[in-house]
Amino acid sequence: MNQKNHSRVFGNKLLWLFLICCLASIKVHAGQNETPFLTHYLDPKTEKKIDAILAQMSLEQKIGQMSLRDWGEFKHENMDSVAEEIRSGRIGGFLNVPRNSDDPKAFNRIQIFAVEESRLGIPLIFGHDVIHGYKTIFPIPLGQAASWDPELIEHGARVAAKEATSAGIRWTFAPMVDIGRDPRWGRVAETLGEDVFLASTLGAAMVKGFQGEDLSSPDSLAACAKHFAGYGGVEGGRDYNTANIPMRQLYDHHLPPFKAVIDAGAVSVMSSYSELNGIPGTADRHLMTEILRDKWEFTGFVVSDWNSVMEMVEHGFVADDRDAAKRSTNAGGDFEMHSTALGNNLKDLIAKGEVSQDRIDSAVRRLLRAKIAMGLFETPYSSEGEEFLKEDYLQASKKAAIESFVLLKNKQNVLPLSKKQKVAIIGPLAEVPYQQLGTWIYEGEAKDSHTLLPALNSYLGKMKGNINYAQGLPYSRSTDTKGFKKAIKAAKKSDVIVFFGGEEAILTGEGHSRGDMSLPGAQQLLLDELAKLNKPIVLVLLSGRPNTLEGVLDKVDGLMMAWHPGTMAGPALVDVLYGEQSPSGKLPITWPKSSGQLPVYYDHKATGRPPADDNYTRIQEIDPAVTWQHDPGNSSNHLDYGHRPEFPFGYGLSYTDFKYSGLKLDSQKLLVGDTLNVSIQIKNTGRRTATEVVQLYVRDLVGDVTRPVKELKAFDRVTLSPGQMKTVEFELDTATLSFHNQELEKTVEPGRFKLWVSRHSQDEENASEFDIIE
Ligand code: NOJ
Repeated sequence: MNQKNHSRVFGNKLLWLFLICCLASIKVHAGQNETPFLTHYLDPKTEKKIDAILAQMSLEQKIGQMSLRDWGEFKHENMDSVAEEIRSGRIGGFLNVPRNSDDPKAFNRIQIFAVEESRLGIPLIFGHDVIHGYKTIFPIPLGQAASWDPELIEHGARVAAKEATSAGIRWTFAPMVDIGRDPRWGRVAETLGEDVFLASTLGAAMVKGFQGEDLSSPDSLAACAKHFAGYGGVEGGRDYNTANIPMRQLYDHHLPPFKAVIDAGAVSVMSSYSELNGIPGTADRHLMTEILRDKWEFTGFVVSDWNSVMEMVEHGFVADDRDAAKRSTNAGGDFEMHSTALGNNLKDLIAKGEVSQDRIDSAVRRLLRAKIAMGLFETPYSSEGEEFLKEDYLQASKKAAIESFVLLKNKQNVLPLSKKQKVAIIGPLAEVPYQQLGTWIYEGEAKDSHTLLPALNSYLGKMKGNINYAQGLPYSRSTDTKGFKKAIKAAKKSDVIVFFGGEEAILTGEGHSRGDMSLPGAQQLLLDELAKLNKPIVLVLLSGRPNTLEGVLDKVDGLMMAWHPGTMAGPALVDVLYGEQSPSGKLPITWPKSSGQLPVYYDHKATGRPPADDNYTRIQEIDPAVTWQHDPGNSSNHLDYGHRPEFPFGYGLSYTDFKYSGLKLDSQKLLVGDTLNVSIQIKNTGRRTATEVVQLYVRDLVGDVTRPVKELKAFDRVTLSPGQMKTVEFELDTATLSFHNQELEKTVEPGRFKLWVSRHSQDEENASEFDIIE
């Protein structure tokens, strides 16, 4: 397929996805959307089978199906008691059954109790957090999102599915499609970034990868969209904290990615254990029933998050476990993770008419439907033929790492390095087999990591003597300066310093938020010492979040964000640092100058006093003698940080240059329902083959409610050799311009729109306008 067609088809796919996602939220379209899961599995035959099973089930067995238990709870008990619970139908599934290399049959032995030794033979479902790889670890999700490459992400999820299912797992708690706008929040590392369109597109790709073509295939890993909803909005970026999100923002920003991944076929949704506007996600009827079931017609099941049913007591939302069971079940929860409030109370609640028998039947129906769709009744056992870390899996992980790297500064082309240069490799995160894997790796192991130094040695061969390595600091938070001397010595012997800094894996992920996102420990101190040598410095960051770089950025010539790249970090870094590959990643999240700038995201509102570079007072410029409040200028800025972030959403440099020209719109006037064709020429004007991520943004200039200054509506990746030019085409359906108005109705409003095709969210060089007319 030539690039032109590819771009068109690709654009089509993305727009189609977004269109569905938007339309499905409009009341008038509810009931018309068809998801793969719906169309394929809501067939009369399956429902009949479910009817037959339900008819044979006792109430206790139905309640048992609604119980998802942690395997770890049972580990000290003897197997007989677990087996008895399974045989009597008191458990519907397990999470966290550990892989034991000495005992690859563990899953199957547990399954036997359910399938062969229980009255109805209903198989268990085994779930696990397979977040960015199982044994072959891929970059953290935020890193993967920096690739802006849905095909790559789909493939990575496929690899994860193949490995995990070969071990016995058939269900993953991924993708996480919470919108990540606050990098203090440790779980930002697990998100697909701050943007609704990007997260929707990439989340859908992940679902396709996990589940594959056929959910009933033994190598299909059922997906779970989490955390429904608003978890990304926790106040102050503090994990588990309260989220307060206005409904319009919820509908326009936080919910569409869930709709997109459900449309991509996700079998399950996990409710959030955070509260949203005063209601814990675990018992939010509006979300779980009115939106998910009634409006989106989701036919899969909802699982609660870990212990979240019981945590509603701590939230002060329910008085006790009985109340918790009642509120979560009545709101639409189907499967209780870890705690046992449902098992302990539902029978009594039904007897007293506080929970209906219908609600229980509907929950069990959803769980059975998923188990049937997953083929668990026919193929309950895993193949036991584990296949991990195969060469093509490793190569896929390396490719993903390369595409995730974002080059943020490259003064005087300090990168790429040349083999002839003497290079000082310094820093706490240079040779880190475990840390390079990032957060949420259960089965990933440091021993399988391909690290930097061996990769450098094998790449440089005879020239490997050009590398001078000194760690400087033993780990990212260390303040022990004993290693500085050696580091400075290594730097003195070298032409260029490459400093591997950032954060260990444990500084992001669940429960690991930071208030201050600067480089921890004595990293800045060491960089200050190195800067005194007046040699070029490249800072490579391994981190689960953007780190603020006040006092650092001006001291370095090069800056590359490598996230936590996964198993193949070493070879991937070598390829990019030495120019075998040009970096092509673009930021999926705005990079702040300081924590004090937060929240900072690209699709903000204009305000009545929009900031510009020339209309604000810099703190240093205030004349101590001038006390007049309005002098000079009042606009929406911080006196100390201005209005721009350190690096905008969508930003990322390359080793080559791209020229954008000839932006064309096939029409300036559209009716609602029309499609706008947009094209632009991209030329590689540099000397290296490289990939550019071309981004299309739109602004709705006047709205019933104020509209964001910019919204990403399409993107494409285009690879060009030196001198090569290609036309990139996008199709923009007017439905993608919809939003929720004052009445909270989804609408496309006639009016004028501005459109940019850009390198990043602050690039305004190629702009045009169009109107939607009545
Ligand atoms: C809690 C986390 O919030 C969720 O994302 C995860 O899937 C479950 N624990 C299970 O480990």
